[in-house]
Amino acid sequence: MRELGRGTGIEDTLLAGERYRWLETGPIRRRYAAPMSSASSAGSVEHPFVSRTSAVLSPFGSSVFTEMSLLARKHGAVNLGQGFPDFDGPDFLKEAAYRAIRDGYGQYSRSFGAPDLNVAIADRFARDCGLRVDPDAEITVTCGCTEAIAATLLGLVNPGDEVILIEPFYDSYPAMVAVAGGTVRPVTLRPPHFSLDVDALKAAVTSRTKAILVNTPHNPTGHVFRRAELEAIADLCERYNLICIADEVYDRLVFEGEHISIATLPGMRERTVTLSSLGKTFSFTGWKIGWAIAPAHLTAGVRAAHQFLTFCAATPLQMAAIEALRTGAEYDRQFIAEYRARRELLVGGLKEAGFEVFAPEGTYFVMCDHSRFGFEDDLAFCRFLVREIGVAAIPPGSFYCNRSEGRKLVRFAFCKRDETLNAAIERMRPLRSRLRSD
Ligand SMILES: Cc1ncc(COP(=O)(O)O)c(C=O)c1O
Repeated sequence: MRELGRGTGIEDTLLAGERYRWLETGPIRRRYAAPMSSASSAGSVEHPFVSRTSAVLSPFGSSVFTEMSLLARKHGAVNLGQGFPDFDGPDFLKEAAYRAIRDGYGQYSRSFGAPDLNVAIADRFARDCGLRVDPDAEITVTCGCTEAIAATLLGLVNPGDEVILIEPFYDSYPAMVAVAGGTVRPVTLRPPHFSLDVDALKAAVTSRTKAILVNTPHNPTGHVFRRAELEAIADLCERYNLICIADEVYDRLVFEGEHISIATLPGMRERTVTLSSLGKTFSFTGWKIGWAIAPAHLTAGVRAAHQFLTFCAATPLQMAAIEALRTGAEYDRQFIAEYRARRELLVGGLKEAGFEVFAPEGTYFVMCDHSRFGFEDDLAFCRFLVREIGVAAIPPGSFYCNRSEGRKLVRFAFCKRDETLNAAIERMRPLRSRLRSD
C-alpha cells in the first residue's frame, strides 16, 4: 500500500507559512482573502502571490485532515488523525479492478453509474433496510460520498435556503452549503452521550429551512442515532416539507445499538437522499466510489450537479465495486469483529493514558476529553501531542460553527493496524504524568 503526496516539497512550503484555518486565531478571511479593493475591481494586476481563492471558499481554509497529516509527517508522528486505513482492502477487490482494466473498461461510464453497479447498490440497499429502489431512476453513482454530498447540496439548495447541520460535522457539509448559497443552522451534539437535542432541532427550523442533514453512525462522535431521534427529525421533515439528507457511510461500523436508515421511517422514502460509499466498508478510501439514493424528483437535482462536477466515477473501479457490494454476511462479520478489537485496543490505551474517553457506538473514531491535561484548547493539545508525544490526532474545533464547542475534545481514528495503535498507545503512556490533580 502506498501513500501519495510525500516528498513533494509542498508540505514545507505550506508549513512554513502555517497559514491554515485551524492554526489561526482569527478567521482566515481577514488575512488571506483578496480584498475587493477598488484597484483590483478596476482591473489593475493583482499581486501574483495574493490568494485568489473565491470569497465563498476562502473562509474554510484548507482541510484539517491535510494539515494534520502534513504535521504528522514533519514530526514523524504515528498518525491517528485522518480516517483512512493504514492497511489495504481485500485482494479479491484488487483483482476485480485489475480485471476491469484489462477487460477494457477504460472509457466514461453512463453518467449516473455503470448499469450493473446501480443494480448492485439497489440490491444491497434492499437487503440492508428492506427498501426497493429503481436502480436507474433513483441511484446516482458519484466520486465517493464527498461528491454525493456536494451534488446533493448544489443540486437541491437555493441561495437563501437554510440547511440544518448536526455538529460536529464532516467538514465538507458547511463548505458545500456555502457554495450553494445557503446558510448553515447548527444543532450541537454534546458529550458524554452526544444525543440529539430535539428541542434545539425544533428551534433551528425557520421558514427558510430546506433540509436537515443527518450522519448516522456519526463522525466524529461515534453516536448511532436512536429510532426516537430519527423519528423527531422525520416529524419535522414531514411537518415543514423538508428534505432529509442522510450520510450513512459508516452503516457497517456499528458496535452498540443498530443502524437505522431514516428513509425507512414512514413518509421518509419520498423526501430522503441516502448517501454512502465503498471506502469505509471495504478499506479502499482512495477508490472514491459513492452513491446517492433518492426518489426521482430529488435525484433530478443530484444529477443536475453531478453531470458537471465529475460526469462519472472511474469506470474500472465501478466494475470492481459490483463485486464488493455482492459480498455476503461473512465479510461483514469479519469486518466488524476486526474493528471491534481495534476499538477495544485504542479505547483501553486512551483510558490508561488518562483521557476521559467517550467510547463510540459506531464509526472508526473515538472522541476524548483532553482537559485533564491542562491545555487551553483542542489546537494547543493536538499541537503538543504531535510535536512532543509523536501522535497525530484531530482537533475537532473545525467541525463546529462555533469552534469553542470542541475545545476540550480530541478525535482519534482506529482504522489502523494493531502495531500502529500499539505504537501510539506506547507513546501516549507518559501523558499520565501530566494529569492535573484538581
Ligand atoms: C461522515 C462522512 N461522510 C462522508 C465521507 C467521505 O466519504 P468518501 O471517502 O466516500 O468521499 C466521510 C469520510 O471521512 C465521512 O466521515
